[in-house]
Amino acid sequence: MGKILAVYGSPRRTGNTALLLGQSVAGAIEAGVEVEEIVLRDLKISPCLELYGCKEDGRCVIRDDFQKVYDQLLACRGLMLASPMFFYTVSAHTKILMDRCQSLWVKKYWIDQVPYGQWETKRLGLFISVGATRGKKLFDGALRTVRYFFDVLDMQLWRSLLYRGLDFEGDVLKHPEYLQEAFQAGKDLARAVADLQRT
Ligand SMILES: Cc1cc2nc3c(=O)[nH]c(=O)nc-3n(C[C@H](O)[C@H](O)[C@H](O)COP(=O)(O)O)c2cc1C
Repeated sequence: MGKILAVYGSPRRTGNTALLLGQSVAGAIEAGVEVEEIVLRDLKISPCLELYGCKEDGRCVIRDDFQKVYDQLLACRGLMLASPMFFYTVSAHTKILMDRCQSLWVKKYWIDQVPYGQWETKRLGLFISVGATRGKKLFDGALRTVRYFFDVLDMQLWRSLLYRGLDFEGDVLKHPEYLQEAFQAGKDLARAVADLQRT
């Protein structure tokens, strides 16, 4: 069974998205898959500097913690990405990681010249997010961002878990049904990843 990578994108270590993602990780482990966890706030990752050194071979030339994450992203078969809504998109930590993956966009579309939309799904992605407010369009911007990010990884947005009305640390604990849903999603993702590998 292929590995799953879990990316914690909130600056809060034990915030709402972290608790949800922790549940998904537990679900995937229960289903028998190996999970690697990354806490973005603990890593030193520069924003993209638009050097385009990646035009050589699709590898970013900035030497920092992104180099290891790059390898982990390419090695995984499933990704769990958790980020709170910050100004109607993903957190800065998460967005910096995404922008550094421009190196993969360059590899895919400039170096390998893959025609747009004509890639095979190699990975499945679960996106977990929460916001304090309750607007209908709360997650629209982030979902578009996530879809295009997943695209560079040949990754399908397999499922998203989006919860409104959660603001203070621990608010999600008042909703055990959300935590249960996240656990189940982790389990389901592990199975879906295994099925994808069989095809
Ligand atoms: C910088 C910042 C920007 C935020 N922007 C939004 C927003 O645009 N919409 C919203 O509903 N909540 C917003 N929030 C609230 C967070 O999404 C909310 O507190 C969430 O529960 C934090 O998740 P976490 O505990 O996983 O970090 C913002 C919070 C911060 C700190």
